[in-house]
Amino acid sequence: MISKSTIDQVYETARVEEVIGDFVQLKKSGSNFKGLSPFSDERTPSFMVSPVKQIWKDFSSGKGGNIVAFLMEHEHFTYPEAIKYLAKKYNIEIEETERTDEEKAEADERESMYLVSEYAQKYFQDILWDSEPGKAIALTYFKERGFTVETIKKFGLGYCLDQWDGFTNAAIEKGYQLDYLQKTGLTIVKEDASDSSKNRRFDRFKGRVMFPIHSMSGRVLGFGGRILTNDKKAAKYLNSPESDIYHKSKVLYGIYYAKQAIAKEDNCYLVEGYTDVIQLYQRGIHNVVSSSGTALTPDQIRLINRLTKNITVLFDGDAAGLRASIRGIDLILEQGMNVKVCAFPEGEDPDSFAKNNEYEDVVLYLEENAKDFIQFKASLLLKEASDDPIKRADTVRDIVNSIAKIPDRIKKEIYIQECARIMNVSEEVLFNTLAQIGKKAQADQSKKARQDQKAFEIVKDDNIIEHVNIHDIHEKEILKILLQFGMNKVQFLELYQEQDENGDLIMVKKESDRKVAEKIYLDLQEDEIEFANEVFRSVYSLLINELIAGENFSFIDWINKIPQNISQIVVNLDMSENKYELHDWKRREIFVKKKNEDIVLRVSQTITSIRLKLIDDLLTGIANESLNNEEKGIATKEQLENSMEFNGLKVKLAERNGLVIKHFEQKVH
Ligand code: CTP
Ligand code: MN
Repeated sequence: MISKSTIDQVYETARVEEVIGDFVQLKKSGSNFKGLSPFSDERTPSFMVSPVKQIWKDFSSGKGGNIVAFLMEHEHFTYPEAIKYLAKKYNIEIEETERTDEEKAEADERESMYLVSEYAQKYFQDILWDSEPGKAIALTYFKERGFTVETIKKFGLGYCLDQWDGFTNAAIEKGYQLDYLQKTGLTIVKEDASDSSKNRRFDRFKGRVMFPIHSMSGRVLGFGGRILTNDKKAAKYLNSPESDIYHKSKVLYGIYYAKQAIAKEDNCYLVEGYTDVIQLYQRGIHNVVSSSGTALTPDQIRLINRLTKNITVLFDGDAAGLRASIRGIDLILEQGMNVKVCAFPEGEDPDSFAKNNEYEDVVLYLEENAKDFIQFKASLLLKEASDDPIKRADTVRDIVNSIAKIPDRIKKEIYIQECARIMNVSEEVLFNTLAQIGKKAQADQSKKARQDQKAFEIVKDDNIIEHVNIHDIHEKEILKILLQFGMNKVQFLELYQEQDENGDLIMVKKESDRKVAEKIYLDLQEDEIEFANEVFRSVYSLLINELIAGENFSFIDWINKIPQNISQIVVNLDMSENKYELHDWKRREIFVKKKNEDIVLRVSQTITSIRLKLIDDLLTGIANESLNNEEKGIATKEQLENSMEFNGLKVKLAERNGLVIKHFEQKVH
């Protein structure tokens, strides 16, 4: 972890106008600076930077915040990445804390691997531009592929000489250790069994053109290398092996160059390989990444999800791979993303298509041919199933399976209607199929829930299994409510003390519009209730501050900036809310209306339960105290009074709860 003092120093030193000035052209305007919004296409500047307050505000997108927020928003850095970026810019030495020697060694090792990779990238690039074979063989090849000089430089492409150990020797001469060359896979060591001094070293990428693979924040993680000869025995493409810095399943080729365009266009094109990304980029379509030959993994989808909810998958013209490719797409639906697919004409891939057509034509083609995935799948499968009734039934099931993966229930319903139309099946049949799938999923989920519950139980000294405690359950419920509805404005019924005409104190019911988070915060404050569970307490304090202070709450942004161990818990809490009942759909209108009232109910019941529990604890305390009295078991006057008062409170609270319930029972018909 970066130490607090480093973070403080970064905040003290960094100037918002200087940092943003590197990305946006700023003009002085009064005491502020003004510029064109980097988050939207605009002609008149609505992006303001205040050097006085050290904040920025983008009036066209509504975004704003401090300097770290800008870097997280614009560069899509995580919090530590943003701090590190600023530290580097202002030459602040980063002090790390709370790391064991082992962790330090590990971090140093990873850092060394990054450095070796960075060196390799520069080395291969220099060879491409400055050596005779580089220019004659590799540069010529790239140019023949249609890459411009600008493109070749932008993507940091390079060449590894056709020598056994040219690169390895150069790196070692520069002082890089063989160990890290080996760990990054750049060098392969063949051990000599009898004499280790006779170990032989080879460049993995001998004779290949090099495509460096960057992380989201631009560090070189690994390489893809393409062979230039027609050697049938050697693989056309060779990639860096998995390592501590290169995890294939967590990396998307091109994401570093594409991230801003993806966010701005609110869409991400997904293609097969390096050359597709580069060619489309060169043609002016910048929001494009590749999963490098494999099916998209959940981690890769999450990378994209940080930037947009929309993916368009681009397929080659040949139909053979198509069926296999669309299988993986359910995974994208599951993550709640909107998926479109676009196939290219027979014999073309995105690479060739982008090379052979003008920008406007490519854009037009993508616009006209990108089809909604589910519709695409339905019509494709339907064509194959044609008149075979058994195949048709399978097809229906297959498609409904895809629809079942969509988390949003309204979207689901729309898809059912669409597919019923396309496949000429009644909506009812589709809904029934969906319900069956839903039931199975629910059964799986409640099994999972039971397992979660088990994890929640602890084993006490003498092997008695007991729930951690009742506080945990209430506290968990509060967090779930906050996560789901924290920003919702809801009408709460609150009790106020007022004087009536005789001057007596009476309780008056009043409705007030409040953010759910505010209501919870105020109620808990009122009774000075603190969360008992330490973990839940830290989640609560992180969350409540964010919800109360902000006008918008972006779950994804928030989850990215809180500590990893806490975000894990939050994700679990949030996921457990995703249960739904299918039969509610047909009564959706009622459901939507009821929803707010459900929130009110849940909030007041949970708060009341917490209060009741608090009083119970106090009563138990009094009972225990009285056991210690001189006359054992007989309560003192004070204890009796206290316990009577608390019991009275209990009744009042229960009444209050009942009152709220009744109130809404009347309203729901
Ligand atoms: N690819 C890969 N591994 C392979 C083959 C292909 O990673 N063994 C990826 C590459 O990223 C490549 C993309 O798939 O850019 C397209 O494959 P292909 O067309 O075979 O590669 P090209 O280099 O375009 O070869 P060709 O000139 O023969 O079309
Ligand atoms: Mn190709």
